[in-house]
Amino acid sequence: MIRRFLDRWRHDLRVKVATFDATDPVGADGARPRPPPDHIRRVNSAEKAVPSVFLHSGATDLLAIVAALADAVESRSEGEALPFPARPTVMELGCGVGRLLRHAPTPALARVVATDVNVESLEWCRTNLPGVEYHHHSRLPPIASLPAMSINIIYAHSVFTHIPLEHQLAWLREMERVLRPGGWLAVTFLGREQQEALLDAEQRASLSVDGAIQIHPEWAPGSSEGPVAYGAVCQTIAHQETTVATVFALGVRRVRHGRQDVLVVRRR
Ligand SMILES: C[S@@+](CC[C@H](N)C(=O)[O-])C[C@H]1O[C@@H](n2cnc3c(N)ncnc32)[C@H](O)[C@@H]1O
Repeated sequence: MIRRFLDRWRHDLRVKVATFDATDPVGADGARPRPPPDHIRRVNSAEKAVPSVFLHSGATDLLAIVAALADAVESRSEGEALPFPARPTVMELGCGVGRLLRHAPTPALARVVATDVNVESLEWCRTNLPGVEYHHHSRLPPIASLPAMSINIIYAHSVFTHIPLEHQLAWLREMERVLRPGGWLAVTFLGREQQEALLDAEQRASLSVDGAIQIHPEWAPGSSEGPVAYGAVCQTIAHQETTVATVFALGVRRVRHGRQDVLVVRRR
């Protein structure tokens, strides 16, 4: 059942990306509103404020995640198959202004849940991307309004690249709490080329010695609504996988040159 669901979602995204490649994504995306460029720049990198880049990158990043999930499910042994609902619950942690969320499955195919720490971004999505259940949370778990074991699949794009290192394990444990047993989590990390471009020689040396380094995690004092400017958390692959494997069973990694790598793991 999960294979059929992921195959369908991956197919739909491939069709969308092919359409965006062949024509102007803005014309092809239909009449749904896009966030104001200023708001996009506060959440994503500046080039994403260009409408065609915002739309194309969101569909491509989500396709990479869904393809990695499909690969992970494909590679597991048949004997492990667990019941999977005909209409699963899919969650995006840290949806921002809906760059990926706007390409999520339709309500007919899945119940879609989206969360974020940033009230302004979540409100923009709530107003402009209907058919999704929204949950606000603080910088630290739990997502109080989400019951345990209520989600089948979670993805988080460019979120563990910003959650401070000292909070990452707590967020992984929260993902474990809300996932059903056997549920899947896809998280992204800055790829090797992105880290090299971001770090100076001294920082690269610290990364290889310590396995991780965080740059400018600037939060407004006392704010629970999000960082004033996003810093970046860089981790070696070994550091990422050691941390994630504390909580989850490792699945597959999809390396994306010049983009964020996708790591798929499974709740034990
Ligand atoms: C770089 S944005 C990515 C947004 C979206 N996933 C995308 O790829 O376009 C990071 C998002 O993670 C959210 N976030 C959620 N929980 C967070 C936390 N504990 N620390 C930092 N950022 C968090 C931020 O508010 C922001 O919307």
